[in-house]
This record gives sequence, C-alpha cells and structure tokens, in this order.
Amino acid sequence: MDARRITDKVSLLGYVDWDARLFDSLIPLPDGTSYNSFLIKGSEKNVIIDSVEAEYSAELLSQLDDDLKLDYIISLHAEQDHSGSIPMLIEKYPGAKVITNPKGKELLISLLNIKEDKFITVEDGEELSLGDKTLEFIYTPWVHWPETMSAYLKEDKILFSCDFFGSHIATTDLYVTDEGRVYEAAKRYFAEIMMPFNKIIIKNIAKILTKEISIIAPSHGPLYPKPSFIIDAYKDWLESPAKNMVVLPYISMHGSTKLMVDYLVTSLVKKGVAVQLYNLAVTDIGKLAIDLVDAGTIVIGTPTVLSGPHPNVAYGAFLANALRPKAKFISIVGSYGWGGKAVEVLAGMLPNLKVEIIAPVLAKGVPLKSDFEALDILAEEIAKKHIEQGFL
Ligand code: FEO
Repeated sequence: MDARRITDKVSLLGYVDWDARLFDSLIPLPDGTSYNSFLIKGSEKNVIIDSVEAEYSAELLSQLDDDLKLDYIISLHAEQDHSGSIPMLIEKYPGAKVITNPKGKELLISLLNIKEDKFITVEDGEELSLGDKTLEFIYTPWVHWPETMSAYLKEDKILFSCDFFGSHIATTDLYVTDEGRVYEAAKRYFAEIMMPFNKIIIKNIAKILTKEISIIAPSHGPLYPKPSFIIDAYKDWLESPAKNMVVLPYISMHGSTKLMVDYLVTSLVKKGVAVQLYNLAVTDIGKLAIDLVDAGTIVIGTPTVLSGPHPNVAYGAFLANALRPKAKFISIVGSYGWGGKAVEVLAGMLPNLKVEIIAPVLAKGVPLKSDFEALDILAEEIAKKHIEQGFL
C-alpha cells in the first residue's frame, strides 16, 4: 500500500499484515494486524517514527523516495515488530541517526546489532526540532516494555504512542470507523500486554493528558481522531471496579468436570451472577484475557491428571497469574479419580493474584447430589461476595 497522508507533513507508512494469526508466538490475532510507521517532513529535518517487522522491510522501503534526506529514525519501542527494519533503513539512508532512550539503545544494540555510534538518546520531556515542527518525547514505560515511549508532535497535536492504545486489526481504514470492533481489539491487546502494569499505565495516561491531543497514532491498527474514545476505554479498564461476572475456564476429559461446571453456571445465573465460560481445549485465549479485565471472580474447572491439574488448565492459570487481573475471588471445581493435588498445585501457581480463595468443590468421579449441593453453596457465596463488594 502507498503512504497515506495524515496532515500536510505527516504520512502513515508501514505494512498491513492480513495473514498474521499469532503474535510473539503466543497471542492470537483473529483480525491480523498492522505495523505502522510514520514519516514527518519538517522544514529542516525529516524523521521516521518506528518501522516494521524485518520480513516486511521491502514494503516500507518502497514507500520512501530514494532521494529523501532522512535525518532521524525514531524508535519508540525496541520490540522487533517496530524496530526490525531499522537496519534496512540505516542501510538505505546511512546519514540517519537512530533516536531512542538509553534503555531502548541498549535493547536495539542487543536485538539488532546496531552500531553504538548511530544513536542519539533522549530523556523524558526532551524536544527535537525539525524546523517548523517539534517532537517531544514522553516516557511511557511498560506499554509494552520498560523502554517504551511516546512522541508528541506539538504543532499538529498528534501523539505517536506505539503499542499504547494499539489494536491488532488489519484494515485499509486510516482512522477508526467501526468503534465497536476497535474497542474489542484494543481491549484484547490491553489485556494481553498492559493489564499487568496497571498502576504504571494509570500514571502514563495522566502524563499524556497534560497535552492537547487531536489524533492518537498507535503503531498497530487505525488512528484515533477522537482520542477520548480510547483514553476513556483505558480508564475504565484500569480504574473501574470489577464487574459482577465470573470467568470460568475449564477442561473436562470424560464429562464429570463439565457436569459440575454446567451446574455451577446455572446456579450462578439463578443468583444474578453473569458467567463467561471458556473450554480451554478450544478457546481463543485472547477472549479469555478480555474478560479477565472485568471479572470479579475466577473459577477454574479441572480434572485431576497425573495427580495435578490438567496441563491446559495449568497454562490458563499461568497466563491469569501473569496478567494480574483485578478479580477479588477465586475457586476451583473439578473431578478426580483416586486422589491428587490439583487444588494445591493450582493455588501455588497464582501468587500474583490478590484474591480470596473460596472453598473448592471436588468430586470423586461422577458428581453426586452432595457435590451439586456444594456447588450451590459456592454459587451462593460468590453472589454474596459480589454484593458485598458492590460489583456492578
Ligand atoms: Fe507491537 Fe511490543 O510490540
């Protein structure tokens, strides 16, 4: 695709990756993604902000005139989906310097073997004059790595935010057109990489809100001509209390755990608690992550396998522990054959969660009447705690 005009002097370059289905060999990308790169032509200096995955460098280079005098390549984030083509840009424009912060420099040297003398490092709040345009660098750490920063084009009021506010969507739209679609994709991305750094991101938002912003230009997905749409969404995900919802990831091998899970769902709904059920044998882990943003309680359903939880459940628990959702309660339900330590193993896998454990319900083999009664008590307890906490 050709470069697309944002303003007289700012263009969107990059690569729309319609085929991408997995990011970092972990995160499902049902809608593909884009790697956005931006060209700013000042009256004195020209800069590119971020690049694309190395394998798509030819597309990026084809969008740049051979006779362009490129002065700076700005790296807001060293992860290779944004930095991977910087070596090719340096090769095409050997006079260009790479601008990043000291942590970014260290990462780019180790990840891409860029020579030390190519760098200029900037501090938080430092400005770069392009002649008639001025970029201010704003450190916004942990969206997604510790070195991540944003850049604010003062005259045009554009915030280049890299992963921050990004959405994994392949689209020809320059700007957000379908807010519902972008909301879900942005929430998925927030859940998967930013939720664990909740407190730092609240500070980052306060920091960028000191600027007057007309456009947010992330390095994935379409641009936001109405910044309040995505800023308000982030504030809700970060600061709103958990909701009256149970997220229930589970696995069942021969049906007993599923019988218990289905019964618990019905019992919870009867008591006014919403449930999002995820069969980990088939689920999109990104959807689960989205619901972890809001869930008040997590219930894990697992059979006992080789004396511990099912490995797929262990994977789900490991992910939930890493994402540090705001849930306040957790419980475990499931079936076992002759014993084991599924509950102890799972509980030991969740040290990051600041949750109260509600008594698990384990059935020996196929659940009996007494097990279903215990599930009713569990549902009652969850409903009561949600009311006490004031979950909406
Ligand atoms: Fe889009 Fe952290 O890379």
